[in-house]
Amino acid sequence: MEKQWWHGKIAYQIYPKSFYDTDGDGIGDLPGIIEKLDYLKDLGVDIVWLSPVYRSPLADQGYDISDYYDIDPRFGTMDDIDRLLAEAKKRDMYIVMDLVVNHCSDEHEWFKKACLDPEGEYGQYFYLKKLKKTASSPDDAFAVRSPDGYVLPCNWRSYFGGPVWEKLPGHEDWFYLHVFHKKQPDLNWENPKLREEIYTMVNWWLDKGLAGFRIDAIINIKKALPFQNYAPDREDGLCTIGRMLQDARGVGEFLGELRDRTFAPHQAFTVGEVFNEKAEELPAFIGDHGYFSSMFDFSETVWGSSHAGWHKNKGITPDDYKGCLFSTQDKVGDIGFLSNIIENHDEPRGVSRYIPPQDMKIMPEEMRTAAKKALATVYFFVRGLPWIYQGQEIGMENVPIRSISEVDDIASIDAWNVMLRQGVSEKDALLALERNSRDNARTPFQWSGAPGAGFTTGTPWLRLNPGYTKINLAQQTGDPASVYNYYKKLIRLRKDSRYSGTMIYGSFEPYLADQSRVIAYQRRSGAQAILVVSNYTKETRALPLPAPVRKVLLDNCADTPAGEPLQITDKSVVLSGYRTLVLELDV
Ligand code: GLC
Repeated sequence: MEKQWWHGKIAYQIYPKSFYDTDGDGIGDLPGIIEKLDYLKDLGVDIVWLSPVYRSPLADQGYDISDYYDIDPRFGTMDDIDRLLAEAKKRDMYIVMDLVVNHCSDEHEWFKKACLDPEGEYGQYFYLKKLKKTASSPDDAFAVRSPDGYVLPCNWRSYFGGPVWEKLPGHEDWFYLHVFHKKQPDLNWENPKLREEIYTMVNWWLDKGLAGFRIDAIINIKKALPFQNYAPDREDGLCTIGRMLQDARGVGEFLGELRDRTFAPHQAFTVGEVFNEKAEELPAFIGDHGYFSSMFDFSETVWGSSHAGWHKNKGITPDDYKGCLFSTQDKVGDIGFLSNIIENHDEPRGVSRYIPPQDMKIMPEEMRTAAKKALATVYFFVRGLPWIYQGQEIGMENVPIRSISEVDDIASIDAWNVMLRQGVSEKDALLALERNSRDNARTPFQWSGAPGAGFTTGTPWLRLNPGYTKINLAQQTGDPASVYNYYKKLIRLRKDSRYSGTMIYGSFEPYLADQSRVIAYQRRSGAQAILVVSNYTKETRALPLPAPVRKVLLDNCADTPAGEPLQITDKSVVLSGYRTLVLELDV
């Protein structure tokens, strides 16, 4: 693997709507991000990804773009972006924006023109079909119809529920394809003209000084054509998009062209949101000269999810989590550099998912904090680029949901309807939402315990997590034992030139892999060996050491009353509940 400038960096995701509001309208904005750059710099962050701030009706919170060359006024102006880029540069920081090009908004001018003339130039920018009420192959048992009887070209279920086909506004018998929400019509990447439009736009942004992009939902740009039905996997007669993706071939041609025409000439940093990749495709995606610089590891994220509904999603145990972490490391090896996360804007909070909820419920406060730091430590030092999602650095948790009326996220609302249709009780469906909802990560950043959590002086667009009076940055900055100050230590250690070579490029070797609820591994290079070891249980345990300890680099219970002096001998260490160490070994 060739070395890259970004391998030793720390990346951070901002969800602008919920980060920091400077004008009191309850919505975070670009001036708010600029104001907090020093905060991020001080934390140790280098690369900042902004979820979309382009002009958008916000049907899917900005992932539905109506103008790629403009900023939504709710977030600010193009001048604000220019200022952000300049201010980031002054601080040696890199700004990465979201590239959402599987689809645009139904309010984009391309789509409006397509509606006016489906057979014209812009009709070719989308997947439009003129349909009949009689099936062309009446013997196709899986064919589904629109409510008014038109036979749909395929029975795929959109990610947000319902068929992927929707009537084209202004027409009786024309339909368009949307694999996400109906306000997100899919762009037709088979059309070279559309691809040219995308490349021009990407280059326009990179020429402005953007460091690169996080690339949204990109695997969906290649459809298995011609459209066909698959065996339904739910009582709605539809089939998950994932099934179609198994059959789609040739996404690499689009991605290679995108790279060669845009990213490569700009030496842009790119990170793909790629689900469903096949192991043998890794070198093409993130190997040297791959389509992307990096892509997210979602193996833990998707673990236990079910097509049948959120109530069927399984919780992940610490051993399952460890299994995902280690098998990804094994799979990726030296091929490239994955991006490691414990949460993002589409996921529940990591501390509410990867620390057993039953432990979180009963542990004393101090051990809960230790557990949050333990999780932070184990994902931070595996091979790859560590990402922090806003609020993760203060240990923000899932938000309680008392009623469906409190829910904003469209994916959650669909999941709710699916569960109720299947006869799940409202009580159980709410619990499933609490565990899985995208709102969990989207509640505003908890800057302080003041009204509005220091996020806004107005009414926040999405309710605050009521936990903000206890979990907030202001209360953690001065406390040496806080989660926040621990994240600073993690970052400092990964950047410490005495260890960074090993932390970044060293080999990854699981340790005590068969011991339940011990998460431990070594990173080695040359004469250096670093052991990360976590007692991922509430109980005190003695664990063997592979070699004597030269130095304790990090201890998640240091600075806390529970941090009793460490009992380390040449051969073993005693760890209290969730105690986690990073040790330099004498080898
Ligand atoms: C990605 C985004 C998600 C969005 C979807 C459609 O998965 O992360 O938030 O809803 O794509 O753009």
